[in-house]
Amino acid sequence: MNIEKCYFGEAFGKAVDKYTLTVDSGMSVSIITLGGAVNKLLVPDREGKLADVVGGYDDLADYVEGDGYQGAIIGRFGNRIAKGTFTLDGVDYKLFINNGPNHLHGGRLGFSHKVWDAEAGIEEDGCTLTLRYTSPDGEEGYPGTLKVTVTYKLSQDNALSIKYHAVTDKKTVLNLTNHTYFNLGGFASGKIFDHELWIDADSFLETDETLIPTGKKISVEGTAFDFRTPKTIGRDFDLSYEPLRIAGGYDHCMNFTKRAEPMSEARARVYEQRSGRVMEVWTDQPCVQFYSGNFLNNPDHDFKGGYKQGLQNMFCLETQKMPDSVNRPDFTDCTLDVGETYETITVYKFLTK
Ligand code: GLA
Repeated sequence: MNIEKCYFGEAFGKAVDKYTLTVDSGMSVSIITLGGAVNKLLVPDREGKLADVVGGYDDLADYVEGDGYQGAIIGRFGNRIAKGTFTLDGVDYKLFINNGPNHLHGGRLGFSHKVWDAEAGIEEDGCTLTLRYTSPDGEEGYPGTLKVTVTYKLSQDNALSIKYHAVTDKKTVLNLTNHTYFNLGGFASGKIFDHELWIDADSFLETDETLIPTGKKISVEGTAFDFRTPKTIGRDFDLSYEPLRIAGGYDHCMNFTKRAEPMSEARARVYEQRSGRVMEVWTDQPCVQFYSGNFLNNPDHDFKGGYKQGLQNMFCLETQKMPDSVNRPDFTDCTLDVGETYETITVYKFLTK
């Protein structure tokens, strides 16, 4: 096992470093301190050959200006908040509007655009990178000074875990996630339609044209969203089906059939047949945003090695609470009070078959 650190550039007047954690199988993860973004993830295939399976940029400027939140920690609130407003204990809060009429992924400069303090360490069974950021009261419109710690761990059994920890000094709302894009054949290997996907979710959230949940939970039964039996992402990818038409593909909150808390089994699994790579998602969170990369057509920002991504070339499985839950008492609770500790974990485990 080993850890390397190098300078990656400068953003917002601060030096940004890149840490690479490597375990004995050869698997490694590179994380930059801007946004705590996973920049590279080398994973063995069934022959032991490594490929980089995540999206990202060579250039720091692309992380600052590019969209898509490549690999980044998302906060304070994953996904959309309708009209960027909510009321907490009778007080109205106004957030930055950055996605049509709505607030998305923490706002103008959310956690994906902060330079985090970093500390690397080697433990018996893996390497860790601990990232810390204190978000001041009122940042992007959110109440409370929030102290956040995110710990990445790459373990000897080829699992990348992400632990989130936060405390606040005033009642607030919080929904942290990670926005890594995957293509298990390698990030530059084209469409994801052949990936076989299993998600143990029995319903998904209907959205309006601005991708805000309407409040309606739809059963996956008999729909393109039924991944309870593994099927390829492409099989039912038909944009004439209304929910898929609205979003240009899959971009929906899937609600797990049962909640694994404490985390005890996988909630989703992806298999790429040519390489034999399998990725399992273990989490204690109630939902996952399955996003099929429907906005990946930004010609101004070349991906690593100059690669141009295209629509549905990578997917995200963003474990989270329900989008816009700040405005819907019947959705998953997303408040964090003084004296409480926000603690969640998600693990991406890699295997082959
Ligand atoms: C999330 C959203 C998508 C899109 C991407 C970033 O996955 O659900 O609609 O905004 O982030 O491009």
